[in-house]
Amino acid sequence: MATKTKRKNPGARAQARARSTSTTSRGGRGGRAAAGRAGSGRGSKSSRGTRGRGRAATGATTRGSAASRGRGRARAGAAMRQQDAIGLLKAEHEQVDQLFEQFERAAQGRGANGAQRKTELASEISRQLQIHAAIEEEIFYPVAAGAIRDEDLIPEATVEHQSAKDLIAKIERMSPDDELYDATVMVLGEYVRHHVKEEQNELFPQVKRSGLDLRALGEQLRERRAQLETTV
Ligand SMILES: [Fe+2]
Ligand SMILES: [Fe+2]
Repeated sequence: MATKTKRKNPGARAQARARSTSTTSRGGRGGRAAAGRAGSGRGSKSSRGTRGRGRAATGATTRGSAASRGRGRARAGAAMRQQDAIGLLKAEHEQVDQLFEQFERAAQGRGANGAQRKTELASEISRQLQIHAAIEEEIFYPVAAGAIRDEDLIPEATVEHQSAKDLIAKIERMSPDDELYDATVMVLGEYVRHHVKEEQNELFPQVKRSGLDLRALGEQLRERRAQLETTV
């Protein structure tokens, strides 16, 4: 891999680009709203609050009032709805990984409807990867590129997306009875796993350290995914 080049001052510029991207990519209303909510610091406030309340909070839980249990459940529900960008992307990685595992099991089976099952799974893999690649390329990668110091990661990830898309297009032209159908889907699986490993081991840690508002970014990704689910 080529020697990495470093950015000089990504911090403030990245935040500005994040806000700019959130409004332009989403066509206005939602992006500004998401940035505004995030700007209020709600997410970080809750984590600071957990640490800050410390023993007082523990004491309330120990007493175990119904009210405190209720508040605990409410906080857990809110946390799931507010899953940040990296949490959301990791969950999608896991979902696609499971689809590849299901395909591998179907390819090993000799059931009468094996070909149909493989076609269904390959189609779902293709759909999920297209949506995932789109939200990364449209929203996450541009923001990350402005925030991290390693200038090679995003271009390399984008090239890897294109290679995966080429394989997906090839699979869509094939029949499950083709001699190389299973192998092609499995190579796509290996390719995606390699890409995911790089994102999770290299890109995501750098994005986490950048100070970007990942909750606001998560909201943008979730909203764009919802749009794409109706069209892809
Ligand atoms: Fe990716
Ligand atoms: Fe990804």
